[in-house]
Amino acid sequence: MNRSEHPTLAALAAAVLATADARAKAAASRAAAARWQAGAIAAIGAGDAPERPARPPRPELRPPRDMAKRRAAGTKETRIALLHAVAHIELNAVDLAWDIVARFANGAPGAQPELPREFFDDWVRVGDDEARHFLLLADRLAALGAAYGDLPAHDGLWQAAHETRHDLLARLAIVPLVLEARGLDVTPAMIARFERLGDADSAGVLRIIYRDEIGHVAAGRRWFEWLCERRGVPPVETWRALVRAHFKGALKPPFNDEARAAAGFSDAYYSGAIT
Ligand SMILES: [Fe+2]
Ligand SMILES: [Fe+2]
Repeated sequence: MNRSEHPTLAALAAAVLATADARAKAAASRAAAARWQAGAIAAIGAGDAPERPARPPRPELRPPRDMAKRRAAGTKETRIALLHAVAHIELNAVDLAWDIVARFANGAPGAQPELPREFFDDWVRVGDDEARHFLLLADRLAALGAAYGDLPAHDGLWQAAHETRHDLLARLAIVPLVLEARGLDVTPAMIARFERLGDADSAGVLRIIYRDEIGHVAAGRRWFEWLCERRGVPPVETWRALVRAHFKGALKPPFNDEARAAAGFSDAYYSGAIT
């Protein structure tokens, strides 16, 4: 069999991770999702998740602590800085979705056994959404005369992925249920800020992202609880222990309880101090 004509889902995931150019990575993500959703991929296959996904030479990546808060000079620069930061998050999110597929696919060395097809349906859809989000933001940057890569960016998101590479339960606890849930907390204020700056188009893109991200937190919560049940561990206590072990910061209120609840992520998980 010609592997390139009949790739497995895990092989397509690895190909997305190995694509360096940002727009090409997003396009590969969307194309892989379309093939999966069309039923054109028969097997999930064995994964081959790289230590780090390929990325373009720019933006320059810096440790989160080195990201000095820069006072943008004008409203256009402010908008570019905000859009660039979110575009960077979305490009990371493309890799994070496909890393879950490649790393934990049933035949992979670190696999979580017996993941059902619906698990892959969800993370493929997330990978498609994140690529669409990145492209929408890249187009907004282009409309403002800027491009992804123009500004430095932080490397904290991939560090979170690396920290949880050993275990799917830890990955789900941190990536969708801390980081993406945090996105739900902060996005409404960012939408309002673009509106104040008179940029309805960027606000519209963030509204699309906000709506889709509720679905990503919902998928994270669903599979986290599914895996807890299979392992016979209590979800809330287990999530708290995993956050303490693998998340290097505090969970910062205020939380967007309404959006989190819409994702089925109840405040029984995150209310009260996690220390
Ligand atoms: Fe996204
Ligand atoms: Fe997401």
